Amino acid sequence: MNHSIDIAHFDRLLQGNAGPGTVLLDARDAEDSQQWHPEGPGIPTFANVSYSEFVEDENGALSRVPEADSIYVICARGRSSQYVTGVLRQRGRNAINVDGGMLAWAAHHRIVRLNGSEDAFAIYQVVRPAKGCLSYVVASDGEALVVDATRYGDAYREFAVRNGLRIGATADTHLHADHLSGSSALSQDAGAGYHLADEDAQGSALSRDPMPKQFEIGSAKIRVLTLPVPGHTLGSTALLVNDRYLISGDTLLPEGVGRPDLGNKAREWTQFLYESLSGVLGRLDPQTTVLPAHAASAAQFDARGACERTLGTLLAGAAIADRDAFVESVEQRVSRSSQPAAYAEIRKVNLGAPVSAERAEELEVGMNKCALSSATA
Ligand SMILES: [Fe+2]
Repeated sequence: MNHSIDIAHFDRLLQGNAGPGTVLLDARDAEDSQQWHPEGPGIPTFANVSYSEFVEDENGALSRVPEADSIYVICARGRSSQYVTGVLRQRGRNAINVDGGMLAWAAHHRIVRLNGSEDAFAIYQVVRPAKGCLSYVVASDGEALVVDATRYGDAYREFAVRNGLRIGATADTHLHADHLSGSSALSQDAGAGYHLADEDAQGSALSRDPMPKQFEIGSAKIRVLTLPVPGHTLGSTALLVNDRYLISGDTLLPEGVGRPDLGNKAREWTQFLYESLSGVLGRLDPQTTVLPAHAASAAQFDARGACERTLGTLLAGAAIADRDAFVESVEQRVSRSSQPAAYAEIRKVNLGAPVSAERAEELEVGMNKCALSSATA
């Protein structure tokens, strides 16, 4: 019998389908485990007992595994966890190996349709749960616009093929600093244009088109307006889809506003951010659905596995009524935050600098830190 599950099944368990007596056991070393491990409401109990502990002192290791109805075992690539699963099962524990380990988890994407089938267009959220990256496919009449694609192009290509879509264009809402963008490569592959605002493309070696005022998709039963919202970056752009959905990039996030300190000009950019939030986004219908570029935790997803918020609620939370209070609060949080060291290198790669597959993996370790609130630890 095969005592293992694939990564999509594991994602569903994390989303809330596992029983209360379920444990996730990380068989990697403590340092790797602390840095980054899967999380979700479906498996509330987490334990870290490494493969080497099982090899060196099996009884000692076993005594550190919590009692549970089911124990899902994960490691870097799924091999050490297979060994640990075998040991646990020999000792009568109900252990199940997570196939492919963290490597598969980092590459896993789930795709959720956000709007009803009565609409003449479809909008999908592409969730990469391991990093909390959210990207989007907006489709109409057999053509798709892909926004903020991750570097795992197959996720989008396979989805397009399955749904009879041609990728007509890709865009990045801004120059990402926390994860590697796949938008340019996806465009090249599809023979489509890649769009990034000029302000964020300084020094870019990529073949790129400027951000248009509006995207035309398919028979244009859909209107995708681009709204410049500088602050998180100077070229940050939000996309307003049919006046109902706002793909907000990192300008507005479930837990707050995007950090304005990435360019080391926090004072100046905080003012831009204020104008973008109160002026540009504040003029939109408060009922507009905000679709951010990141989620900070599994708890921010709904029962469908999607993450969306209402514009009015997020703007109320951003406390933009008083400009001085907003600026002061942002500056306080900025002063307590630092940028992860990898961000400078990630930005260079996202502008076209070459990177090896191994280095790309290293650069992407860990959850994103694009929101101001999550940068304050
Ligand atoms: Fe960002």
